[in-house]
Amino acid sequence: MNLKDTFERRFPYLRLSITDVCNFRCLYCLPNGYKKTGNLEFLCIEEVIRLVRAFASLGVVKVRLTGGEPTIRKDLIDIVREIRKNTTIQKVAITTNGYRLKTDVEEFYNAGVTSLNVSIDSLNPIKFHEITGHNQLDSILAGLEKALKQGFDSIKINTVLLKQLNQDDIVLFFEWIKTVPYQVRFIELMETGLHKDFFKKNHLSADKIVTYLGDLEFIEKPREFSDGPARIFTHKNYQGSIGIIAPYAKDFCKTCNRLRITAKGHLRLCLFGDSSHDLRPYLQNDQDQQLLESTILDLLVLKKPMHNLHNNDVGLMSHLASLGG
Ligand code: 5AD
Ligand code: SF4
Repeated sequence: MNLKDTFERRFPYLRLSITDVCNFRCLYCLPNGYKKTGNLEFLCIEEVIRLVRAFASLGVVKVRLTGGEPTIRKDLIDIVREIRKNTTIQKVAITTNGYRLKTDVEEFYNAGVTSLNVSIDSLNPIKFHEITGHNQLDSILAGLEKALKQGFDSIKINTVLLKQLNQDDIVLFFEWIKTVPYQVRFIELMETGLHKDFFKKNHLSADKIVTYLGDLEFIEKPREFSDGPARIFTHKNYQGSIGIIAPYAKDFCKTCNRLRITAKGHLRLCLFGDSSHDLRPYLQNDQDQQLLESTILDLLVLKKPMHNLHNNDVGLMSHLASLGG
């Protein structure tokens, strides 16, 4: 593994956005829906493969496709197939809002997707509608049931904690995972440039959930070296598990194991960093792979030890649809 920064962190895992476009209107992300700005020339499949090949050669073993909403890309299936066929990457995950699961989940699996993260912020259909702007909870849950019948390595649910919107429904997730083997990951709301007021009203510390987990006698899984920043909790009477992602917690950034690429091919060393490095010029020819690899290694030394969210500094992050979380 050559991808190591100055703080001894390693990066076995690449998060690659393949589109900024999303069809949902989550209140904390795109409350007015996706608005086109500039051109929509997202990385084409050849550019994606060159990029993934270079990262794989530097030691990356897993790629997560994100958006916006990655399943909006018409060539998503081809992208997954090409990654699995023409690079050494063995694990391809997708982070999705789930709207295509019910119809397409078998196709995702057959193309070579190995794990799924599906965003569900409430199991109460009315709240779900209020948060996402779409009344699709039932269809997404049906899609998830179909997903269980495939052989995915893991199926995780992302749930952003929202004080005014889903706090009272959190118990529903606990009930749910008694009988289904999903991992529900509670994510603390992060401040973004466009939604500072929403953040003030809705940020809810994950500490409350950690206390609740203790009351229910959930056990925290010991961390392994390659684990990312999530804390995982299991319980013998629950088929599923709980993950906690608390970016405001002390030492959160010490376990950062991910690098991000925007849909237009910029390397972002941190979700909330203030720099963005254009790799696209190096993605036009197979012959440029060495140059691309050395550029990535040179840039990695710029990765800072931690974000500056505590000082309300969100860097370049206007909303997460531009980087997929
Ligand atoms: N804070 C925390 N999580 C967020 N997501 C999007 N915006 C935010 C935010 N401001 C989550 C989505 C999705 C994942 C990609 O990131 O809910 O699950
Ligand atoms: Fe779309 Fe995800 Fe943003 Fe919701 S959080 S609007 S599903 S990109």
